[in-house]
Amino acid sequence: MPSAKKLLLLAGDGIGPEVMAEVKRLLAFFARTGIARFDVEEALIGGGCYDAHKVAVTDETVAKAHAADAVILGACGGPKWDNVPYDVRPEAGLLRLRKDLGLFANIRPAISYPALADASSLKREVVEGLDIIILRELTGGVYFGEPKTITDLGNGQKRAVDTQIYDTYEIERIARVGFELARERRNKVTSMEKRNVMKTGVLWREVVEDVHAREYKDVGLEHMLADAGGMQLVRWPKQFDVIVTDNLFGDMLSDIAAMLTGSLGMLPSASLGEVDAKTKRRKALYEPVHGSAPDIAGKGVANPIAMLASFGMALRYSFNMGKEADLLDAAIAAALARGLRTADLKSDGTTVVGTAEMGEAIVGEMERLAAA
Ligand SMILES: NC(=O)c1ccc[n+]([C@@H]2O[C@H](COP(=O)([O-])OP(=O)(O)OC[C@H]3O[C@@H](n4cnc5c(N)ncnc54)[C@H](O)[C@@H]3O)[C@@H](O)[C@H]2O)c1
Repeated sequence: MPSAKKLLLLAGDGIGPEVMAEVKRLLAFFARTGIARFDVEEALIGGGCYDAHKVAVTDETVAKAHAADAVILGACGGPKWDNVPYDVRPEAGLLRLRKDLGLFANIRPAISYPALADASSLKREVVEGLDIIILRELTGGVYFGEPKTITDLGNGQKRAVDTQIYDTYEIERIARVGFELARERRNKVTSMEKRNVMKTGVLWREVVEDVHAREYKDVGLEHMLADAGGMQLVRWPKQFDVIVTDNLFGDMLSDIAAMLTGSLGMLPSASLGEVDAKTKRRKALYEPVHGSAPDIAGKGVANPIAMLASFGMALRYSFNMGKEADLLDAAIAAALARGLRTADLKSDGTTVVGTAEMGEAIVGEMERLAAA
């Protein structure tokens, strides 16, 4: 008997529960057809959790997240909770989970589905067929480095200080994730830093080269200054396969890459922790890049593709179900190719559908492709 696949679903606020319902539809399909069976638990996070427990995530839920093979999150937050105390604001739940699970590697794919190539602000030929990954270091660097201060200099001036710090082990482990990802793809890693002006950039490059020489000689490696990398991302993004970079540059470069593909409703993400020495599994959290979209919540019009594709990443990275993940990607592409669009993607000559209809169409395509 294969060991049970343990999932924790945290639907969250706003459109979170609406898009998570489509993940449940997919899970039901897997169970019905015998493709896979998951042990599913659900819990509150964000504003809904604050309303029930006066915290953004409970200790019990954090314990469940530790016990799960993968956490699947919808979205947290909304205007209803704008004035709750800072440390229990909805986003605090997600931040605590990321920290407690030690999720240091943030994976954001930028994939352009053929049917949506015209939704990008770039020309069709630049983005059509795009399939790249931005791998961002998520727990170190300038967002967390100390000292982090604003000091009054007493002469009418203030001084703000942020500190960029990276230790060898932090660079090594994110580099390894990058090389492992590339091995399963087109075998190329581009490491981006600013070694020309930053000591952390010098060390970053040195450590990435060491890891490469020691463990991943079979993978192609190139280096690029992060500013030049930003330029290349919009000039000819298809030159990349896996881009690995630090927290600050990754934050910006992943948002640039996001816009190559069109809508926020299309973008999945994964955050991975260390491999557990005993179980050989990684802690992992999968979530769409978008937020809770309060402006459309409750209307049944949200695009479920970012959420479904995030679950697809869980199939790939947590459950070794690459074949099913490919099938899901193909099903999404097929539903789009049929001209179905949620409101955020609509264009002339397409059919606008709601969240549930889009989910139904994608699962229907899965069924068709699985039987083919
Ligand atoms: N990881 C998270 O949980 C997360 C991430 C970002 C924002 N937030 C929170 O979400 C709330 C709203 O933030 P925001 O409005 O800045 O960002 P947002 O991503 O929720 O929405 C931005 C715009 O994109 C649209 N949009 C987002 N997802 C969509 C989808 N799946 N289908 C169709 N349209 C979609 C929205 O309708 C809105 O017009 C805030 O409380 C914010 O703090 C949470």
